[in-house]
This record gives sequence, structure tokens and C-alpha cells, in this order.
Amino acid sequence: MARAPRGTRDSERLLASLGTLEPPGIRDPALGSRVLVRAQGSRLKDVDGNWYVDLSSAFGVATVGHRHPAVMAAVRRQASRILHGLGDLHPVEVSERLLRMLARRLPAPDYRAVLSLNGADAIETALKFAAAASGRPGILAFEGAYHGLSLGALEATQLPPFRTPFQALLGNRARTAPFPRQDGSDVDRVLEAVRGILRTPPVPGVVVVEPIQGRGGIRVPPPGFLRELADLCREAGVFLVVDEVMTGVHRTGPFLRSQAEGVVPDGICLGKGLGGGVPLSVCLMRGPLAEALRGWTGEAPHTWTFLGYPLGCAAGIAVLRTMDREDLPHRAPAIEEAIREAGHRWSLETGAVAEVRGAGALMGVQIQAPGGGPAGDLGVRVMRRAWTRGVMLTIEGPEADVLALMPPLSIPPRDLARALQQVGEALREEARR
Ligand SMILES: Cc1ncc(COP(=O)(O)O)c(C=O)c1O
Repeated sequence: MARAPRGTRDSERLLASLGTLEPPGIRDPALGSRVLVRAQGSRLKDVDGNWYVDLSSAFGVATVGHRHPAVMAAVRRQASRILHGLGDLHPVEVSERLLRMLARRLPAPDYRAVLSLNGADAIETALKFAAAASGRPGILAFEGAYHGLSLGALEATQLPPFRTPFQALLGNRARTAPFPRQDGSDVDRVLEAVRGILRTPPVPGVVVVEPIQGRGGIRVPPPGFLRELADLCREAGVFLVVDEVMTGVHRTGPFLRSQAEGVVPDGICLGKGLGGGVPLSVCLMRGPLAEALRGWTGEAPHTWTFLGYPLGCAAGIAVLRTMDREDLPHRAPAIEEAIREAGHRWSLETGAVAEVRGAGALMGVQIQAPGGGPAGDLGVRVMRRAWTRGVMLTIEGPEADVLALMPPLSIPPRDLARALQQVGEALREEARR
């Protein structure tokens, strides 16, 4: 690792030529993006030959690490058999095997599944089934929520930059409640707001919630919140869908973050880490939500060409086996501790850390101006400085002030320690400027 030694000339050249193909608004040209050519374990390499320790898990996908040998072997094996089946018409055997493995990890035995490729697809499934089952199109979502950017999911996503350009297309079907602070100081007020929405016509058909808000800034609700939310949903006869696209598949330790509270949601959405780098997501539903289309005959009203995509399913099986075989979920607490320690050190050294929060390998360090106050562009500058120091990380939160530290569970402790040291240096350098 260490300082990226070779410059970024080839990346810049390639991106400049790409710029003629990409529509504006897809990638910020000022960021200084790198063009990646290789990945292995917790490392990434760019076209200039620079290596990075990946503290982003590539948006949370590489939970078992990049190109895990078991995932690669499973994909190769599957590719030699069948690359694509006929989804809902003639499913492939490997998708059935994956679903049986998933079923053993769920909080109740009666979940049914719709497989898909992106996290947003899984949310679309949940929202469509909820509207079909309840006859009510409304959604209760939380301020700061991110559930994906396809049109249905965007109704639930509550971060303005993603909604504003497409406002003309939105049905504004979501009503929002505040997301509670971790210290519980406002949780009664939040639950009262939820109760009010669930009682006031038009009553929503579904409540969608992230157990930890990811893109909203790694925001952790207080213990007990999910449990109370589930109780309110049950009392009101409104479906509860827990979006575990970011938090699921052991990112915080347990298979599902919501498991910690003993919640049995009507719907659970998984994606990102599930396919170990191959596109794979799933919406798991039970009870009346799963029964929404019962009695329907003829054309399947909700499906996709790539439903049950064999390469994704084979990779998913390998991910689940690898988690068990390598005992990866048990590494989450040590990763959390290392990041917490580093964050507190940075806080003392720079005065530029407002808060360290998260769980397991889903951590956020909120940046502030040294000594306090809004961070301005400090978060973005630290992220870019970290890139030049050989560490890949992203920032989250509406103010772009939360360093998202979410390494693969398989990251060697020494890599994590060195990468955190480099991020600390990046913060020190930028906080001084
Ligand atoms: C909680 C959550 N839900 C849904 C999504 C959407 O997933 P995708 O980008 O794969 O559509 C994301 C992506 O970041 C997410 O964090």
C-alpha cells in the first residue's frame, strides 16, 4: 500500500476519452476518479498500477472480499453448465438451492422469494406486492432513507439530490417520519409521528425502513426502535419491509441486522454482498404480502428476464458457504472496534470528528470543521486525499460529511490498521489546510 506512487495519468486520459460517451451528471469530473483494472481480497488496482486497500467493499458488495476463490470457482462451474435459464417459466436448479440456503437463515420458515439483480429491484418487488396486497399505494419512509433509484424505489428514497431532477415523474406516494437518533432522545416523538401517519387516511400500505441508514450517513437508530415500529405496523395492519440491502448478509455481524431485535418483518430486501460481486438481490416476503398475486393466472405480472440469474445464484451460494466456513461474521466486532479506536484517535488529534457510529463492518465517521461546525468540503477532500494515500473509501450523508468505512469482513487486520492510519493522515493533512 502506502502513497499511490505512480500518479493517475492513465486514469485521467481514459476518463477524458470516456467523457465524450457519458452523459453529464453520471460522474463528477472534478472528483479525480480512478479507472480500476483489478481486484483481489480487500485490494483494488487502477490502470496506472496503483493499489488501494478497499475500505468501501465497492459500495458494500465485497463483504467476503473481491474475487473470493470460492465465488470464482462457483461462477466458473456454473458458467460451464448453464448461463441463463427461463426465470419464472423454467427456473434453474441453482436458484432453488440458493433459496433453500437463504430460508435457513431467515427469522421465520415461511418466507417466499423473488430474485432479482439490483437492490432497487428487490424494493420494487416489495412495494408492488404491498400495493397489490393492501390496495393502498402509499408508503411510509424515513427522512434520509435510501432505497435505490428506480422509479418505485425513488418514491421511498428521501435524499433530495436523487429526487429533484426527476420530480416530474414522482407520484409523491411517500409520507415521511424523522429517523431517530441513536441516543434515543427523540424516539418517542418519532414513534408518535409514525403512529399519526399510520392512523391518518390515506393510510399507507407499507412502511419501509433501513435498520441502519447507509447512504443517509450511517445512522443507527436506538435499540428497540425496530421492535416498536414492527408493533405499530402490526397494530395498524400495515406491512413492514426491512431494507437490508446494505446491512444484510452479515455486514454488521448477524445475517440480518433486524435479527438483533427479534423482528419478523413482512418483507426483507437483500442485495449488494449477497452475490459476492455478481449482481444478485432478493425480496423475501411472508404472509399476506407474499400472497398478493395468489389466484393470478396467465402472464406473470411481476418478473424479469434475469430472475434467478444462474451466475448470481451460484455466487450467492458460495458467499453463504464462505461466511460459515471462514467464520467471517465473527470478525465484524473486531473491525468495528478497530475503526472506533481510530476514529476516537482522529478526534483527539484533529478536533475534526463529530461522531463515530455504526455496527460491525458498517461504520461512519462524521467529519466537522476542526473544533466544531459544518464540515463544508472537508469530507470530500479527506476522501480524495485517502485515494492518493492508497485507500479507497466513499462518503455518505446529505452533507457529504460522513466517511463510510465498510471493509470486507475478510480484510487482514494489518491491512485494516494500515489503511486506517492512512485515512488518519489524510484527515490530519486536510484538517490543517
Ligand atoms: C439500503 C439500500 N437499499 C437499496 C439500495 C439500492 O441498491 P442498488 O444500487 O443495487 O439498486 C441501496 C444502495 O446503496 C441501499 O444502500
